[in-house]
This record gives sequence, C-alpha cells and structure tokens, in this order.
Amino acid sequence: MSEDTLAPEPPSTAPAPPAAGTPAPHVRDALEAARRGTLALTDCLTDAELTAQHSRLMSPFVWDLAHIANQEEIWLVRAAGGLPPLHPELDPLYDAFRTPRADRPALPLLGPEEARRYAADVREQALAVLSRTPPTGHFLFRMVAQHEQQHGETMLATHQVRRGPAVLDAPAPHPAPAGADRLPREVLVPGGPFTMGTDPLADPWALDNERPAHTAHVAPFWLDTVPVTNADYQRFIDAGGYDDPRWWHPDGRRHLRRTGWNAPAFWRRSGTRWLRRRFGRTEPVPPDEPVVHVSWYEADAYARWAGRRLPTEAEWEKAARHDPATGRSRRHPWGDTPPGPEHANLGRHHLQPAPAGSFPQGAAPCGARQLLGDVWEWTATDFTGHPGFTATPYREYSEVFFGPAHKVLRGGSFATDPVACRGTFRNWDLPVRRQIFAGFRTCRDAGTGR
Ligand code: AVJ
Ligand code: FE
Repeated sequence: MSEDTLAPEPPSTAPAPPAAGTPAPHVRDALEAARRGTLALTDCLTDAELTAQHSRLMSPFVWDLAHIANQEEIWLVRAAGGLPPLHPELDPLYDAFRTPRADRPALPLLGPEEARRYAADVREQALAVLSRTPPTGHFLFRMVAQHEQQHGETMLATHQVRRGPAVLDAPAPHPAPAGADRLPREVLVPGGPFTMGTDPLADPWALDNERPAHTAHVAPFWLDTVPVTNADYQRFIDAGGYDDPRWWHPDGRRHLRRTGWNAPAFWRRSGTRWLRRRFGRTEPVPPDEPVVHVSWYEADAYARWAGRRLPTEAEWEKAARHDPATGRSRRHPWGDTPPGPEHANLGRHHLQPAPAGSFPQGAAPCGARQLLGDVWEWTATDFTGHPGFTATPYREYSEVFFGPAHKVLRGGSFATDPVACRGTFRNWDLPVRRQIFAGFRTCRDAGTGR
C-alpha cells in the first residue's frame, strides 16, 4: 500500500493489510497536505485574531502554528535527522504539558509572521531529512503529519468558538440519498471474537494507542444504523431530558447545575425553533443532521432516556471493522480502500456533518453508516492501553491520558483528515467537552426488549 510495502504476510489473526497497490499517501504528500490545511485555517485571520484568546479551552491560533513546527523540529529534525536544534529556547513555550491552554496567550509567543517563518524553516530541514531516510524510518514522519492534521481539527474547533464575522466557507454536503429515511433504525452486530487494534506491519500509520492487534470479544448487540440526529436530540430536550435526574450521571448532573446547559453547545432557542451558530453564521438547526457539540454526559443521558446505552469502544470497533465473511478486521467499514467522497465526510471539505443516512457505499458489513466521518462518536469506554501497549515514541502522546478521566471517541468527524482517521484510530477527551465535533450513536444488548 505505502512506499514501503515489503511487509511479510501477517499472521492470519492480524487485520487484513490494505490491498496491494492501494495508494496510501506518501509521507511527503501527507506533510504537504497538512501544511496547506494549517495555512488555510490561519491565513484567513488577521494578526490580532491569530494572537487573541478565543476561549480559555483553546490555544491562540499562533500557539498551534508554532507548536506544530516545534513538534516537527523535535521529531523530524532532531530525532530522525540527528541535526542540532534550530530553536531549543522555544521548547518550553510550545510544550503542551508545561502550559495549560488557558495560560498560553500570556506567554512570550512568536508572532504570526515569526511562527510562519519558523514552520517553513523547520519544514525545509524536515524534508531534507526525509529525502535521506529509508522507508523503514518513516514512522515519525507519519506521526508528525497526523499531529499537524490533528491540530488542524483543533484549530477548526477554535474557529467554531471564535466570535466575529465568518471567514471560512465550504459547500454543503449532498442531501441524504433516496431511502435514507427508510433505513432500519438499528442493525445487528454479531457476537464473538474479532481482531481489535492493529500492528505496524498491517498499518504503518497506526499510532501507539491503536496497537497491538489483539482478540476482543463482544456479545451480540443492536446498534443505531446512523448517528443520533438533531431531530432525535430535540425530542430528548422537549421531553424535559435536561431536567430529569434519572438520565444523568451524578457528575453530569453536577456539571449541568454549574453550567445551566439545556441544549448542545452553540444552540439558541428562537420562539419555537432552535438556531445554531456555525463558524460565524446563525442558521436553523437541520433536523436530519447528526447532532454535534454534545458532551459525553449529554450523550450518556440521551441514551438512558431512550432506553439504550452508548456502545463500548470494542463494540464500536467490531461494528466498524469486522467482516463476518472472512473473519478479518478491515481498515475502514467499507474495506481497505482509502476514504473517498463516496464513503465518508472527512477532510474539511464540508464544514458540517452530512445528513443521517448518507454514504451507502461507506456502510460497514453490519449495515451501519457514517461510522467514519461526520461526527466523532462518544463511547462508554475510559481511555486505556490495549493489552500489551507500549508508548511510542513518547509517553505524552497517549499514555499520560490513560485512566477514568478521559472517554474514548471513535470514527473522526467532517473536520478530520483521512490521514488521521481509520477504523482503529482512537481519540479521547474529558466527558464535559463539547467544542469538539462530537456526537454519538446508541445501542442495546441483543435479545433484550424494545
Ligand atoms: C488525540 C486529539 C486528544 O489534541 O490532545 C495533539 C492530539 N496530541 N498534540 C490532543 C494531540 C498532541 C490529541 N487528541
Ligand atoms: Fe500537539
């Protein structure tokens, strides 16, 4: 699949490797695409907007910009290239662990032009290192390309919380295809073992927390065919869902009291309708779109109100990857071919989720649609390492976040680049967060009522 395809045949229990000849992006193309994305998200803003604090939850754009460059310097110029540091004095400023997001605007950060210059200088050296690095040494380059794309999604979330006139524009996704409104409400995912996670030989893009491949067991369950929509979620609101303590995790209830939340973030009631603000524009909430900007607590409460529950992470991955015909796990719900516009709404081509029931060609073998793209999906599961996990190349990518504080999200959103999205990709966040592009779907055990 990739530029280094000399992998031996994996053992039969491992996930199928992508088909030979599948054009996975070369690392250089992935790095360049990530940079185009970064610049598209920052060149549209004034210097004042780039340095401003748009939310205490987010970094100033100019911090992300130089942090992207600093990570690239650390991993590609210094670690992979063995070259001397360009700007070691910047390391503490752009170390995410030394400064919480809320404190970053007060740091003596590089200005917008300096940050762009730094990023360009690092990139020039990184590409020189790449040109003399054999394919067996490409992991760090893949990781850095994904890191920049992840920050692209984070910067898009900063655009969403930002006040002020719209600066981003993108075409709307296609309307739902014919028959989308007649899909079965839920699909059966068979019980039994499946291969969860992956290995570097099967998927050279996999980050440490996706590894190793291992056998996981799930009991049969019924999964929503599509993510929970705005119309579905409005019924929960209208039924007084936010006021009924039966549905809420105790910590969620406490958080509701503190915040006064009564709807997804960015929603506002106007008479009998709901409006939402999306990238600086206000519009009616579209009923058939997957709900987005809900916290884990809200997703969990909705599921309980509906007499259902959030899927575990293993259930989600089985639904998304397991092929009952072969017993193997796919890279994507539709197979091993890379995501195209017919499969999923990924890559910031559209700045909103596609209507529920879109992408029949992206369906998983179980029949579920939109498992990748559109909205990240909250799962019931706390973020931990797969059995046999080892941190690669640094503990701070995943391991320091393991534990009950963070919930796993799966599947990517419209804001996620395909290079950082696959059936094994794991995201995580605090259960109170809702500036991210997160929604959910629900499930129930097979053989129970409803
Ligand atoms: C995987 C999205 C949770 O933003 O904290 C960026 C990605 N890691 N820089 C995050 C990440 C280091 C990470 N998430
Ligand atoms: Fe980062």
